[in-house]
Amino acid sequence: MKILHVVGARPNFPKVAPIMAAMAAHGDRFTQVLVHTGQHYDHNMSKVFFEDLNIPDPDEYLGVGGGTHAEQTARIMLAFEPVLLKHRPDWVFVVGDVNSTVACALVAAKLGVRVAHVEAGLRSRDRSMPEEINRLLTDQLADLLFTPSRDADANLLQEGIAPEKIHFVGNVMIDTLVHMLPKARQRPGPAALGLQPGSYILATLHRPSNVDHPATLQQLMDALQQVGREWPVVFPVHPRTRKMIEEYQLHRPDCGVLLLDPYGYLDFLSLMLSAGLVLTDSGGIQEETTYLGIPCLTARPNTERPVTITEGTNRLVESRCEAIVEAVQQVMRSPRPAGKPPQFWDGQAAHRIVKVMTEGMV
Ligand code: UD1
Repeated sequence: MKILHVVGARPNFPKVAPIMAAMAAHGDRFTQVLVHTGQHYDHNMSKVFFEDLNIPDPDEYLGVGGGTHAEQTARIMLAFEPVLLKHRPDWVFVVGDVNSTVACALVAAKLGVRVAHVEAGLRSRDRSMPEEINRLLTDQLADLLFTPSRDADANLLQEGIAPEKIHFVGNVMIDTLVHMLPKARQRPGPAALGLQPGSYILATLHRPSNVDHPATLQQLMDALQQVGREWPVVFPVHPRTRKMIEEYQLHRPDCGVLLLDPYGYLDFLSLMLSAGLVLTDSGGIQEETTYLGIPCLTARPNTERPVTITEGTNRLVESRCEAIVEAVQQVMRSPRPAGKPPQFWDGQAAHRIVKVMTEGMV
């Protein structure tokens, strides 16, 4: 069976790594092709993840880069079509919810190539999020839908997806986390920054709703700078966020907030492991902190990953300075919340995917 995997942006890399490894372990059953759209192209947004996660070099690199949503999605589609025709796979595997996911799923569906979507069924019910549009459309196009949690199954059934297409396999991102923990523990983490374990806050912010409006980003930066007086804040900054911070001069030096370049997978995980608290608007980090039992504040009005709240350590917080400062103080001064990893967040999700593909179910 020939599988063509698509990756494009940073959150895709830890999802595709365990699937490719699990399929490679059944080399007699699978031939694999890896296509990188080039949606993310900086070394520390892309290449370092290939190195850290032992992902094979892409067979095809489309080099599409940034642009408006229409430009980026259209460029990916135009570049992907001839590549798909050249390789003629049995299945196209897409992961997550980025523009590369929906663009390649659409090209494949139109050419009659079957599509498998990994991390299907997540819904924030907020269509102002580009990822929600990508999730809805990709799930409609997919022939096989691999879900990370039971709520995702329910969402898909509610949207009329045939039950036989849906397979609850668990969270592939957690496969990577489980696999990489021993290596991450060997990284210097906070010690390299002169920080004590448990005493600092790790922050990441890149959602358009938080960083594209200077007034909102100002609220977030003010909050970080305020809590930074009591607890150092380590803030690896996404390129999108950096542009805005620089353009609107939103950073005050000497305020306890350390602005850094984005980290690779292992170094970021190593910093996350010892953080007292993580403040984020990322999807994957809500999941990783839940697995690790680290308190997480998500600066968003909603989440497509509700199990991180009902079963994990996540809590939503308004993107407002006062709300964040209050929430941070409360978390940092309280005992750690109890949480448990949701069902099938156990390091075996990719094996379940392989099982579905090999045991005649498809
Ligand atoms: C994308 C995903 C988002 C994911 C995030 C992780 C979509 C719609 N969004 O958002 O779901 O959480 O990736 O990072 O697909 N840039 C660089 N260098 C890079 C990558 C991006 O400078 O390596 C710049 C781009 O040129 C652009 C901005 O960062 O100006 C945003 O990049 P883009 O790919 O449009 O979306 P993200 O905000 O990264």
